[in-house]
Amino acid sequence: MNICVVGSGYVGLVTGACLADFGMNVVGVDKDVDKVEALQRCEIPIYEPGLATVVRTNMDEGRLRFGTELGPAIEQAQAIFIAVGTPSRPDGSADLSFVEQVAKSIGEHLNGFKIVITKSTVPIGTGQKIDKIIREVQTGQHEFAVVSNPEFLREGSAIGDFRNPDRVVIGSVDQRAIDMMLDIYSPLRVADVPFVITNVESAELIKYASNGFLATKVSFINEVAHLCERLGADVETVARGMGLDTRIGPQFLHPGPGFGGSCFPKDSRAVVQIALEHGLHFQIMESVVAVNQATKERMVEKISQAFDGGLKGKTVAVLGLSFKPDTDDIRESPAIEIVKGLLDAGASVRAFDPAAMEAFREDWPQVEYCDNSYDAAAGADGIVIATEWNQFKALELRRLKELLKRPLIVDLRNLYEPAKIRAAGFDYFSVGRVGAQQEQRQEA
Ligand code: UGA
Repeated sequence: MNICVVGSGYVGLVTGACLADFGMNVVGVDKDVDKVEALQRCEIPIYEPGLATVVRTNMDEGRLRFGTELGPAIEQAQAIFIAVGTPSRPDGSADLSFVEQVAKSIGEHLNGFKIVITKSTVPIGTGQKIDKIIREVQTGQHEFAVVSNPEFLREGSAIGDFRNPDRVVIGSVDQRAIDMMLDIYSPLRVADVPFVITNVESAELIKYASNGFLATKVSFINEVAHLCERLGADVETVARGMGLDTRIGPQFLHPGPGFGGSCFPKDSRAVVQIALEHGLHFQIMESVVAVNQATKERMVEKISQAFDGGLKGKTVAVLGLSFKPDTDDIRESPAIEIVKGLLDAGASVRAFDPAAMEAFREDWPQVEYCDNSYDAAAGADGIVIATEWNQFKALELRRLKELLKRPLIVDLRNLYEPAKIRAAGFDYFSVGRVGAQQEQRQEA
């Protein structure tokens, strides 16, 4: 089957490459000429483990190519995946102008039955909107069907997630479209992956409700962590005790500096906005949005307390800038709030991240970017761990101690055992743990 994937951003690129790997003929179309030229040379503009290999293999085998011309790509395709951006507007609602432009082009170039599939996270009702635009724009009498097929990929493990998903959601009431989607995903059907087939609106909502629920879990455990600090309880043990209940499950119960990325913050706000547009207050999601902001801000206070209440004139080594490990993505990363808070308080920041420094530097040129964790620690008054990259989990403590002015670590991802790290001679602060509380009491 010939497939056109519109948008070669994160979702589009992974989807296109993996569908080519499923044996489809895929053309990825993007209006960014530089990006497309780079992709044609097999240069991948994003950091995603394993993606380069899948792209290269499928380009070499002739199943994957990239271009900028949308019209011919639409005409040749039987299935068109829309994977363009849906950025947040200032009020939190999703800006659909890119999706609408693509729908218009599809209408202009419709030359036979095609399915039009939304991969981007789009507000409920977008499928109908796309259907209406195509119907209004097309001059012929061609049939088409709009399908919602939301994406559940996580950055950093996107290839594995695509090949081995928990489920595939297909939203359409057109049997031809459903059959084509089942064909496209046949390698997953063979592997017994569950398929949820429903109408477009339900599929669209499954995506928002899933991200909203996961974001709620993260905010919930972050609030529990805060409470633990007041009570002298240990959030890691509380999370384990909760997560062993199979109705709760252990995942997404890791406390930290708040959730970031291109999805949870945007989708949580969008759920609130969608509900408001339909006359409802989605109170839990409203709280999740507020709790996440408060969590990020609380981290700056925590760091300030650890640095004896005064950040002015201090040098802080920040390890980790991306919103999570294994990605260079800094969108809504808690590290942004942290670095901003440190700089506003008069501290200097020396930072290291294995992948995200280039992106961070664009907005934060006043930060000093270092070659590695030890370089960042050299001469600093303490370390803040903001992202749980693997390499930050096994730092050479003795070496750090020699390099730092004061042996102080504020670990916002709970990577270390408080007792062990204190035994190594460090002042150690973490999130919601007994040790963190004891340390604060001693300081008081
Ligand atoms: C998320 C979802 O997990 C994917 O299923 C979905 O497809 C994707 O959004 C999307 O809508 O495109 P992603 O944003 O890549 O994926 O990242 P996650 O691994 O879900 O993490 C999101 C944020 O929550 C990160 O800032 C992470 O540090 C934080 N988090 C996650 C925690 O603080 N604690 C946890 O226990 C889990």
